[in-house]
Amino acid sequence: MTSSQAANALAYGNEQGNIALMDYLVKRINQEQHLNLSAENLMITAGSTNALDMIARLYTQAGDAVIVEAPSYVDSLHVLRDHGVKLYAVPMDDEGMLPDELEALLKDLASKQIKPRLLYTIPNFHNPTGITASEARRTAIVKLARQYDLMIVEDDVYRDLAFEANIPPSYFALAGGENVIQIGSVSKTIAPGLRVGWIVACAEIVQRCVDCGTTQMGGGASPLSAQIVVEFCRQGDWDTHLEHIRNLYQTRRDTMLAALDLYMPPDVTWTQPAGGFFVWLTLPENKYAAVVKRQASERGVLVASGEGFFVNPADGQHHLRLTYSFASLDDIETAVRVLAEVVSA
Ligand SMILES: Cc1ncc(COP(=O)(O)O)c(C=O)c1O
Repeated sequence: MTSSQAANALAYGNEQGNIALMDYLVKRINQEQHLNLSAENLMITAGSTNALDMIARLYTQAGDAVIVEAPSYVDSLHVLRDHGVKLYAVPMDDEGMLPDELEALLKDLASKQIKPRLLYTIPNFHNPTGITASEARRTAIVKLARQYDLMIVEDDVYRDLAFEANIPPSYFALAGGENVIQIGSVSKTIAPGLRVGWIVACAEIVQRCVDCGTTQMGGGASPLSAQIVVEFCRQGDWDTHLEHIRNLYQTRRDTMLAALDLYMPPDVTWTQPAGGFFVWLTLPENKYAAVVKRQASERGVLVASGEGFFVNPADGQHHLRLTYSFASLDDIETAVRVLAEVVSA
């Protein structure tokens, strides 16, 4: 980093973000997603959390309807709720959100003169289920969003953590960039403490975010971290690091799935994530996730009980989210064995 870059990184940042990082990301995203973005289509944010908060602040008002997946990421629901919106949930299966259910909801809302403002979705290696939405689902959802003039917010923070075949085209790509905001972040692949993320959207939306009060008052997001990230990326270290962590997480995923196969009773089912951090467990009707969670934690095993991931918490009472990203292979194997004992007891 030159001394003038260092001095700039300590000043209020350019409102749209660190220009070198924007330039790097635009090129990278164009290549990865076969897009034709230019600088006006991207803005740096303080992580994806800041992006979602800003979008909700600028594109909804208290009382507005916002559609989410059932389940969805607990903290995203929290951020949306902070804006006083009313959340409506659409169920998922192993291919993602169910378009028929979405259509039924949109029709029902339209019949009540309710126009939902946003559809928030996590398309790749979903938190908490680990599911990746299929291309057919994405296409059907883009079609419905167009028909009902619904803005899609695509939270794609796990995109770079694919273990296997290529992931389907993004919502942004499928919609030709129309009425879709894609959110990205370095939190899952470099470090969450950097607080560096971004949005990709049409120029008008990016400009609206650049012109908003908080950006104008505080300047562009995380200038010092953004400079650190761009130095890291320019040296090619991100790709080397990605290769390393994909292999690491894939081995951990494999260990968890093998242990589940080995130890879990036959009436428990789980998802098969093709990337990311999570496996989603479904317990039989007579087993309650909150009880399993408490008993597992008494034996040193931490899992997330499903309730918080649902707009209607009761829908999550037989589900658990397991995370394999952090633990060692031995710990994963032991934890799954203990969890299976708790579930079987
Ligand atoms: C789906 C999803 N979105 C956003 C975030 C938060 O990301 P960031 O650190 O970029 O704010 C997380 C973190 O767990 C997540 O799982």
